[in-house]
Amino acid sequence: MTIDELLLDRHIVVCTGSGGVGKTTSAAALALRAAELGRRAIVCTIDPARRLAQSMGLEQLGGEPKLVPVTAGRSRSKGELWAMMLDMKSTFDQMVLEMTTPERAEKIFTNPFYHHISSTLAGTQEYMAMEKLWELHEEGRWELIVIDTPPTRSALDFLDAPRRLTDFLEGRFLKLMMLPYMKAGRTGLKVINFGTRVALRAVTRITGSDLFADVADFFQQFEGMYETFKLRSKRVRELMTARRTAFLVVTAPTEPSLKEARYFAERLTDEKIPLGGIIVNRAHAVPGVAGLEDPAAIAARVGDGVLAEALRTYGAWRAVSLREERLLDGTLGAMEDTPVWRIPDLADDVHDLRSLHEIGELLAQVATS
Ligand SMILES: Nc1ncnc2c1ncn2[C@@H]1O[C@H](COP(=O)(O)OP(=O)(O)O)[C@@H](O)[C@H]1O
Ligand SMILES: [Mg+2]
Repeated sequence: MTIDELLLDRHIVVCTGSGGVGKTTSAAALALRAAELGRRAIVCTIDPARRLAQSMGLEQLGGEPKLVPVTAGRSRSKGELWAMMLDMKSTFDQMVLEMTTPERAEKIFTNPFYHHISSTLAGTQEYMAMEKLWELHEEGRWELIVIDTPPTRSALDFLDAPRRLTDFLEGRFLKLMMLPYMKAGRTGLKVINFGTRVALRAVTRITGSDLFADVADFFQQFEGMYETFKLRSKRVRELMTARRTAFLVVTAPTEPSLKEARYFAERLTDEKIPLGGIIVNRAHAVPGVAGLEDPAAIAARVGDGVLAEALRTYGAWRAVSLREERLLDGTLGAMEDTPVWRIPDLADDVHDLRSLHEIGELLAQVATS
């Protein structure tokens, strides 16, 4: 399958991968490409580099979708590129508002513990990215939705984090913490409870906030919302596994990154999430030249000078390219039906629509393996 076929066929494309490999760049380039192909596309970015955000008109708070003025003339198609930045907190607020009464929502919003959870708790960003995906899908304004994913260290966190957050809100986490105390039995519980109370009082004195009361109140407000919460997760899950969804795994052409991509791809298949393909970003593809198999030997023969220098430079880059090919064969070689696209390592950072367009062109040209 070519990247254009994928972009014309799917409704949702999710770019995943470990931190720094080029997820945000790929997501933006793919959405732009789709627009150039005539589709009404939106990209929801999470942590765009400032200059990239600026080039898409997202310099201020980008929580709302904005139409990106794609230079006229490049395509006379009726395609549109929309872009937005995920605003984690307002997405969480919106979700709470939909799940409960305004009074309860208000109580939750003023709870300091909620502030902590909605802005810093690990896993919240992943969860909210999927919530936003559902919202955009429900709005029905876009033919293609491209979702960028948070800069987690490991791509696998992306699949596990939402479950962790659900568990946490269900109070399983809290129960787990309480378990040792409960096991201690009645008398033990009293003793520990006393100690805990003292400790909490100390914490309250130091931090100036009644943490214990906040946490208790938060869970009380959330009581009764778990079922709705679970239902929503299930719905998002269905969207993730739908036929017109494709997950793309972005990777660097290095061994650890490729291995993780492979592992992640397998995990997606296990979870019945459609794998669209793998994007090897920042690849160094230096073609072989007949008669130039051993550039160093020829360089030695021509003596010192510009030609020898050029030959040696070519030889060094060709070696890098060959090593990457071997790595790719070794890690992804067995995944025969999975398309692999390569994006070359460009001389400059990708921070404007021109270079995004260039990446789209390159993705469309490269033959898949
Ligand atoms: N093919 C490429 N060539 C050159 N620079 C790139 C390429 N892909 C990404 N970059 C740069 O690498 C940095 C990280 O890319 P980004 O897409 O933000 O990664 P991620 O979202 O996976 O953390 C950015 O500065 C981006 O401009
Ligand atoms: Mg990113």
